[in-house]
Amino acid sequence: MISIKDVKKRYKTGSKSFYALDGVSLDIKKGEFVAITGKSGSGKSTLLNMIGTLDTVTSGKIFVDGKDLSEFSGKQIAAYRNKTVGFVFQSFYLEPSYTVFDNVELPLVLAGKTGKQNRQPVEEALELVKLSKKIKEKAMSLSGGEQQRVAIARAIVNNPSYILADEPCGNLDTANSENIMRILAGLHAQGKTIIMVTHDPEDAQKADRIVTMSDGKIVSDETVHNAHKTRLRAAL
Ligand SMILES: Nc1ncnc2c1ncn2[C@@H]1O[C@H](COP(=O)(O)OP(=O)(O)OP(=O)(O)O)[C@@H](O)[C@H]1O
Ligand SMILES: [Mg+2]
Repeated sequence: MISIKDVKKRYKTGSKSFYALDGVSLDIKKGEFVAITGKSGSGKSTLLNMIGTLDTVTSGKIFVDGKDLSEFSGKQIAAYRNKTVGFVFQSFYLEPSYTVFDNVELPLVLAGKTGKQNRQPVEEALELVKLSKKIKEKAMSLSGGEQQRVAIARAIVNNPSYILADEPCGNLDTANSENIMRILAGLHAQGKTIIMVTHDPEDAQKADRIVTMSDGKIVSDETVHNAHKTRLRAAL
């Protein structure tokens, strides 16, 4: 469970300062699939980055599984990013000269695991995104859609409870986007909690819930109607 309590984030540029997040409160239950939408600059990425500890709040609190993120030590933050949350970004952020295996293995290596024990979790993660055949290829030789699937495999290899995805389909064509959405829906069906920032209304409809932001505030929080979702899933 993620509990966000009156979070504000103030940025200063020169002598001016403004609130990128201006009093956001939100509870996300375990197993939910939440889409965050809103205009460019509304604070979506800022919010996701706070949940992921990539940035810190100016005021307010974020609790994940009952723990106050602001009280984490450096070591706890590293462990949290490595094991509790899995990140997927619009621009993939793979190591281009590494193989697919090495990219997906990275979170395990960062967690201090090396050698043969890593083979199975990496293979399982790649199987889930249907990229087992490319395990030895260099990341830079893959298509955009394939690279994003590797990024998802990397995000799930340590079996995190939460997947934080910031416009995961933003750089992909329709066919590849559908593929990524199908993978995210599959992870959701397996019990993962998914928080996905998206500009695409159709992708947002695939979530359980759509949270809309404007000027650093949540302006609507709607449950997605199940019948509509079933139709969309059937169409996929
Ligand atoms: N490090 C920073 N320093 C100063 N301002 C920032 C910083 N990061 C974000 N901002 C500003 O905060 C506001 C919210 O940014 P954010 O990236 O969260 O928007 P977004 O909703 O994700 O937009 P987009 O849809 O374009 O990705 C924007 O006005 C942005 O310019
Ligand atoms: Mg953004």
